[in-house]
Amino acid sequence: MTRNHPKLTENPYYEGVPDYMTEVYDWAYVDPDWVKFLDRNIVVTTLLFGNDQRLMKSYLAEIEPGMRVWQVAHVYGDLVARAAEKVGPAGVFHLTDVTPIQVEHGSKKLAGKHWSRVIRADAANWYNDDTPYDLICSFFLLHEVPEDRKEQIVNNILDQLPAHGKAVFVDYHRPHPLHPVGWILRGVNAWLEPFAKALWDREISSYAHDADRFEWKKQTFFGGVYQRVIVTRK
Ligand SMILES: C[S@@+](CC[C@H](N)C(=O)[O-])C[C@H]1O[C@@H](n2cnc3c(N)ncnc32)[C@H](O)[C@@H]1O
Repeated sequence: MTRNHPKLTENPYYEGVPDYMTEVYDWAYVDPDWVKFLDRNIVVTTLLFGNDQRLMKSYLAEIEPGMRVWQVAHVYGDLVARAAEKVGPAGVFHLTDVTPIQVEHGSKKLAGKHWSRVIRADAANWYNDDTPYDLICSFFLLHEVPEDRKEQIVNNILDQLPAHGKAVFVDYHRPHPLHPVGWILRGVNAWLEPFAKALWDREISSYAHDADRFEWKKQTFFGGVYQRVIVTRK
């Protein structure tokens, strides 16, 4: 879709949405009709080959009640509600997303949880000028953004990490060469996910400007298909 396509110019759901979102992920994350259909647990379970609960738990296990948590992008299904629930009323849960319809869905899921806030913002430059976050999580965002955005997001997160804080990245990783899902994902990446393959070839730490100032602990799942990286300051 070109920038002057009527769908983009006359529709508030497209206002200020980055080009890579409208060009690559319109049906997946921007078009409200599609989003209404896709925002459910079964979609996440299917996309993650049944590993959704394991991967979500690997993030949720890092949350302690009363923490200040920033989740940098919305995720389909109930993950954001579960994360906010775990934070609880003694803490703070901030969810950012760059796409209006995703902000709308996230806001509905977090309604009534007064310690939660949904903010329309780009994870590449959202800056919290209040008390720093204890935990910042990127759950399957990096593989969906171009290389320069990956670098900006990783560094924006790390720049805001206090001495005691923790960043959690859950995302794709290079599968074991014999893993059958690796071959399926090669096809999916070539067809639908042009920015995902980079995470097969690069460590998340390689996007950081000052990687040496941090401790990087990586755990892989499902024969290397997925990774969770926990980052703390040294
Ligand atoms: C977290 S990722 C994918 C998660 C997973 N595949 C799922 O099942 O939802 C998708 C979200 O990232 C958001 N997003 C994309 N680029 C972003 C950015 N630069 N900053 C914040 N959110 C972004 C999209 O609007 C979308 O809601």
